Amino acid sequence: MQCTYISALSFADYGSHPECDVALRSAYTALLEKNGYVHVTEVPDGFEHSRFLAGFGDFYPGPSGKLIDDIIAEPGMDDVYYGANRRALMPHTEGYEFDGLPPRYLALWCIVPPVGGGGETTLLDAYPLIEALRVEERNYLETQPFDWQASEGLRRRGLGQRSSHPILETIDGITLLRFSYNNILLLPGAVEPVASFLNRTKQVFDAEHITIKYQRNDLLHFDNWRMLHSRTEFEDAARHLKRVQIRYRG
Ligand SMILES: [Fe+2]
Repeated sequence: MQCTYISALSFADYGSHPECDVALRSAYTALLEKNGYVHVTEVPDGFEHSRFLAGFGDFYPGPSGKLIDDIIAEPGMDDVYYGANRRALMPHTEGYEFDGLPPRYLALWCIVPPVGGGGETTLLDAYPLIEALRVEERNYLETQPFDWQASEGLRRRGLGQRSSHPILETIDGITLLRFSYNNILLLPGAVEPVASFLNRTKQVFDAEHITIKYQRNDLLHFDNWRMLHSRTEFEDAARHLKRVQIRYRG
């Protein structure tokens, strides 16, 4: 088994030697902090993804109400913008429309990869874009609240949360980015500075994103306060991922 960055990172014997588990978790956490994400491939059958991930914090319930969501395309929903269909998404962070803090981490693992391609998760580290902001731009994004609404698909399902937050916050010294290219509601007068940031960020995302193509059992875990993510379109309705949203634990 190999990891994207450390070939020695192996889950093959996870759970059998406590000292090895500590060393593995330490190497994994270092990768997560350095790169903002970890993609582990060739995870053995029997590995308990959710048990491993529980070490990073408590889980939020997903739209289904379950702590471990099944990500399967819902029939009859391809006509709207929606995480649980087969169409491409726009770059976003998860939980921008939640009251309070969005999930610190998102993790997905693959039960059934799609036949015929597509269905990849795409990622971009947003911290370099934030670090490049001019002082007045950053101040604006940290102080101007915006209204955020859930996707059209969630609204159709009666799960349309809505909230008001600035795009940037600092929590315990950690920069928190909320981002949605298409579900942030822009008020007159607030459009120009933020539209520039949204468009610039989307251009960089489109040009420089990382593409994660899933094989069975693959684990993808990323920092949702730092990384933008999206999804490419796919056809195969059998595609099945599991997903957890992990709370910030301070
Ligand atoms: Fe998402």
